[in-house]
Amino acid sequence: EKGGYDHFMLKEIYEQPRAIKDTYRGRLLADQGIIRMAGIDQNMEKFLNANRIIIVACGTSWHAGLVAEYIFEDLARISVEVEYASEFRYRNPVITDKDVLIAISQSGETADTLAAIKLAKEKGAFVFGVCNVVGSSIARETDAGAYTHAGPEIGVASTKAFTTQITVLTLIALKLAKAKGVFSESRYHEYLTELETIPSKVEKALQSNTLIEIIADVYKDSTNCLYLGRGYNFPVALEGALKLKEISYIHAEGYPAAEMKHGPIALIDEHMPVFVIATKKGHYEKVVSNIQEIKSRKGKIIAIVTEGDEQVRDLADHVIEVPETLESLTPLLTTIPLQLLSYHIAVMRGCNVDQPRNLAKSVTVE
Ligand code: M6R
Repeated sequence: EKGGYDHFMLKEIYEQPRAIKDTYRGRLLADQGIIRMAGIDQNMEKFLNANRIIIVACGTSWHAGLVAEYIFEDLARISVEVEYASEFRYRNPVITDKDVLIAISQSGETADTLAAIKLAKEKGAFVFGVCNVVGSSIARETDAGAYTHAGPEIGVASTKAFTTQITVLTLIALKLAKAKGVFSESRYHEYLTELETIPSKVEKALQSNTLIEIIADVYKDSTNCLYLGRGYNFPVALEGALKLKEISYIHAEGYPAAEMKHGPIALIDEHMPVFVIATKKGHYEKVVSNIQEIKSRKGKIIAIVTEGDEQVRDLADHVIEVPETLESLTPLLTTIPLQLLSYHIAVMRGCNVDQPRNLAKSVTVE
């Protein structure tokens, strides 16, 4: 059942090229310049007339929501707010019938997310679901939706659900960008064809596994880790830290790289590993200067860089390369080494990777 892998988590990490392809199969028709998604097509007016999109989710799905905020605002020029479902439902939020709410959930059973949907519906908002489990409570409760088609995710640590959620949300953003006329034909075409290359680029990113195992061995006994990223890769830093915490029980925090000097920099010394996402395009030079700041305080730097990078290689203690892609698609690649890293560290520490202590796969109580 684990397909020859030691754990479901590792199997699911390796399934990502296929899972992402399954997510866009039948939807992304790049040669015809079409993205086909019935749930969006049938409700296009609702999306186009929306005041804003509110995204609600928990945990890793909330991180996918944060990536979506960058994608929707940057590509489709629609204003987005991302909320923890638990906070949203209890803070008497302002919701109107001009709002569109997108709920993201792998299981489709998360209690707080379900309650947030019910609240938004009561207030007249249009509610769209992005779920993995077909026929789940959230899938049934929403007005329309798009499944991720990632296949069953058994490991408690979410991996392929995250990258497929981002894939679905990217398809939606591209459809809206096209419908709004904010994208030129050529830019739209560039995105569609680049999206089709992502599965093979994820495959390439997975090839760093042996190097990542070596790096994991160096840092497996750390008690604290920092994860930094900017822009599209800030949510990836949060996700990398969550993945490490939940399966290896090492304390980790993710931050926008620029926030470092507003507090976390005080933590940095020779015992602090700092994982920095430093891919080209995404404010690269600014991240490089953040890396210099860490280095001058003797922090250990493990950088995720674009293939062929030389500048960061000179500064970092370790670099892990990912293929080049459009900036907004980089989270689909930069996430991969961070998943593998937390996996190997957890295995080396003898942790129960697939069923970490105190955690359940779906959180059906608030
Ligand atoms: O099923 P959901 O996507 O609604 O679950 C949300 C979170 O409980 C989930 O992502 C959790 O944070 C994972 N264990 C993270 O790996």
